Amino acid sequence: MRILAIETSCDETSAAVVEKSHDSNLVEVLTLVTSSSLPEHAKTGGIIPECAARMQLEYMLPVVEEALKKYSDQEPRLTLTQDIDAIAVTSGPGLIGSLLVGVECAKTLSYVFEKPLIPVNHLLAHLYANFTRGEKIQFPFIGLIISGGHTDLLLFESHHKYTWLGGTRDDAVGEALDKIGRKLGLAYPAGPEIEKRARKISNPSLRFQSPLIGADNFDFSFSGLKTEVARYIDVRDLSEEDVNEVCFATQKAAFDVIIKKALKAADKYMARSIVVGGGVAANLRLKEEFLEKTEIPVFFPEKKYTVDNAAMIGAWALFNLEPSRLSEVLANPEMYFA
Ligand code: KG4
Ligand code: ZN
Repeated sequence: MRILAIETSCDETSAAVVEKSHDSNLVEVLTLVTSSSLPEHAKTGGIIPECAARMQLEYMLPVVEEALKKYSDQEPRLTLTQDIDAIAVTSGPGLIGSLLVGVECAKTLSYVFEKPLIPVNHLLAHLYANFTRGEKIQFPFIGLIISGGHTDLLLFESHHKYTWLGGTRDDAVGEALDKIGRKLGLAYPAGPEIEKRARKISNPSLRFQSPLIGADNFDFSFSGLKTEVARYIDVRDLSEEDVNEVCFATQKAAFDVIIKKALKAADKYMARSIVVGGGVAANLRLKEEFLEKTEIPVFFPEKKYTVDNAAMIGAWALFNLEPSRLSEVLANPEMYFA
């Protein structure tokens, strides 16, 4: 089965061709082409939705064309008619204008070329980025989604049966890192810079609290951390070294609670794997800490698949081949875990 996948939920415009044989766990990424408007958003310190969607309108068709063409220098380009079995597209959650660009493009291609269309939940797809490695992920697994918009824990009993266990009550972890970074004067998105600066600290002298770490649930809250850090910053004139300390303490407070709750969920549901996805999964310190704290295999995607990309959308679709009628595929910014 070979799928053309499209992703436009936020600031990326991405298309990929992925394939998998029937009984395999390995998703092969034949091509992946992503065009990002992130440099534009770095100028304004955050995403302006209207601006993201306008750029996606411009990029969408060239990105799809490139994804079909890039397959191999030797072979002729892939054609939708002959080489693609189905189309997958992110239908939510995300920014409405951005989602509409991808959904309408995918619907048009599906109609014109008579290919089934599979709508995909962007959040679940972040976890399935791990299947591009053919990893030995075993059920039941705990899914941990950590991105700029979400922080969620899920229990997967099979590809088709999953339960939401808990999530953030306010800011997502990536959002909190970005807001704290902004307060510290770091470039957007701040997660990578916070990681880099935190690495420079070997003897930490500062601690912030990990919100809800003692609560008997699988929920998170990061807005309190943001406030605590802001209060700390506001009354001080920070040196570069102090900024590094704040980065270390912020990252530690956030990751301690994330790891603790993921391991608690794994223990409670006797999980055989933990599968991590989303932009914050690019953080190597988080990976190191997980590996130090548990024997359960913890899977992280390759860095290029932690950011928003169409390969992960195709990966989910390859395990969940459930086409919808075109009239039922709608951009849904509020989509959660249906
Ligand atoms: O998944 P993603 O690309 O977009 C959403 O769907 O939200 O995640 C973006 C988030 C940003 O908040 C960014 O700061 C964070 O991922 N991020 C990181 C790292 N790289 C990206 N956070 C911590 N450490 C990193 N290395
Ligand atoms: Zn995402």
